[in-house]
Amino acid sequence: MKIGIIGSGHVGLVTGACFAHLGNEVTCVDNDPHKIALLKKGKSPIYEPGLEEMVQTNLKEKRLSFSSQIAPAVRKTEILFVCVGTPPKENGEADLTTVGNVSRQIAQSMTSYRLIVEKSTVPVETGEWIHRTIRTNLRKKVEYDVASNPEFLREGSAVQDFLSPDRIVLGVESKRAEKILRELYRPIKAPLLVTDIKSSELIKHASNSFLSAKISFINLVSRICEAVGADVQKVAEGVGLDQRIGKNFLSAGIGFGGFCFPKDLSAFIHIMERSGVDPGLLKQVLEINESQKKYFIEKISKELWNLRGKTIGVLGLAFKPDTDDMRLAPSIEIIESLLKEGVRVHAYDPQAMPHARKIFGKRVTFVRNAYEAARGADALLIVTEWAEFLELDLKRVKKMMRQAVVFDGRNIYDPKRMQGLGFQYYGVGR
Ligand code: UGA
Repeated sequence: MKIGIIGSGHVGLVTGACFAHLGNEVTCVDNDPHKIALLKKGKSPIYEPGLEEMVQTNLKEKRLSFSSQIAPAVRKTEILFVCVGTPPKENGEADLTTVGNVSRQIAQSMTSYRLIVEKSTVPVETGEWIHRTIRTNLRKKVEYDVASNPEFLREGSAVQDFLSPDRIVLGVESKRAEKILRELYRPIKAPLLVTDIKSSELIKHASNSFLSAKISFINLVSRICEAVGADVQKVAEGVGLDQRIGKNFLSAGIGFGGFCFPKDLSAFIHIMERSGVDPGLLKQVLEINESQKKYFIEKISKELWNLRGKTIGVLGLAFKPDTDDMRLAPSIEIIESLLKEGVRVHAYDPQAMPHARKIFGKRVTFVRNAYEAARGADALLIVTEWAEFLELDLKRVKKMMRQAVVFDGRNIYDPKRMQGLGFQYYGVGR
């Protein structure tokens, strides 16, 4: 099938590369000429395991092409996926300006039937707005359909999530749209749910909100564990063994970050309020998440006493492992608070340092590896659970530190082992 992807960010690029991998002819469009130039050379602008190789293979096989123009892509394809950004406004509402602009441009270039699929995470009823925008901007009377097909891709495993998803959700209004999308997804083995567009839009917001709620729930439980001397990991294991609950997304830590959960929760809260629904539960989820970072910072300052002039090593900057994404990463607030207190921060992340440099500049010293972050430090923080931090020679780490104090914000180490090695060790909820 011939597919146009409008917006070649994380979602668009993975979607485009994977559809090409499945044998379709795909054109990925983006208004950033620098990004398009990189992609034409087979270079991925983002770090996502397996993606760059997939882009290169499909470029070579001529199933994948890149362009900075929407109009030619609309003319030569039948299905158009809208994958542009929907950043948050100051009040938490999703900013749909780009979705609107892109829909208008698609309409103006349409000369025969097109299926326009919203894949960006959008508030419920956006499908109706896309419909209206297309209807009012058509230059010629042509048939078209609008559909919703939310993405459930996790950064760091997006390619795998695309090719082996838990489910595929299709929000459609016509049999024709359903038939096209069923055919497109035929090579992927997964339960397929067909709904109306609004339900499909809500499935995405409800899924991300539920997962965020699970994390805030276990983070709240971690507080009582800490207060009474229980172990949150054991509690999570015991709770998660109940199949109705499930064990995933019950890892206590310093809260969720990234450009999906915080933003989608805020947008969902906003749309509920606008629709006269009390989003109280979701507001609590966000509040607990915020307080979890503050609690971690308070713990550090309580245990280290005077922070001014101390050196702290930070391991991990990305909002989670296997990505270089720093957007709304808990590390930002934690490091900013330490800097404000007069701490010297030595930080290391296997992938995210180029982005972190843009945020902190010279205020933070970026080092070559985890051991360098430990050198002369009064404490070491585990902020992102990269696999390589699990493999560290902890005896060597201890020797390099001024004071062997570890605040493990992701519970990657065993408290008993750490104490046995002579560390003063603080985990989350245990
Ligand atoms: C999330 C969803 O998992 C995807 O299904 C969805 O498609 C995507 O958002 C999106 O809307 O685009 P992502 O943000 O890449 O994916 O990352 P997750 O793996 O879900 O992690 C989100 C945050 O939760 C991270 O900061 C992570 O450290 C934190 N987390 C996760 C916890 O603190 N505890 C857990 O048990 C799990």
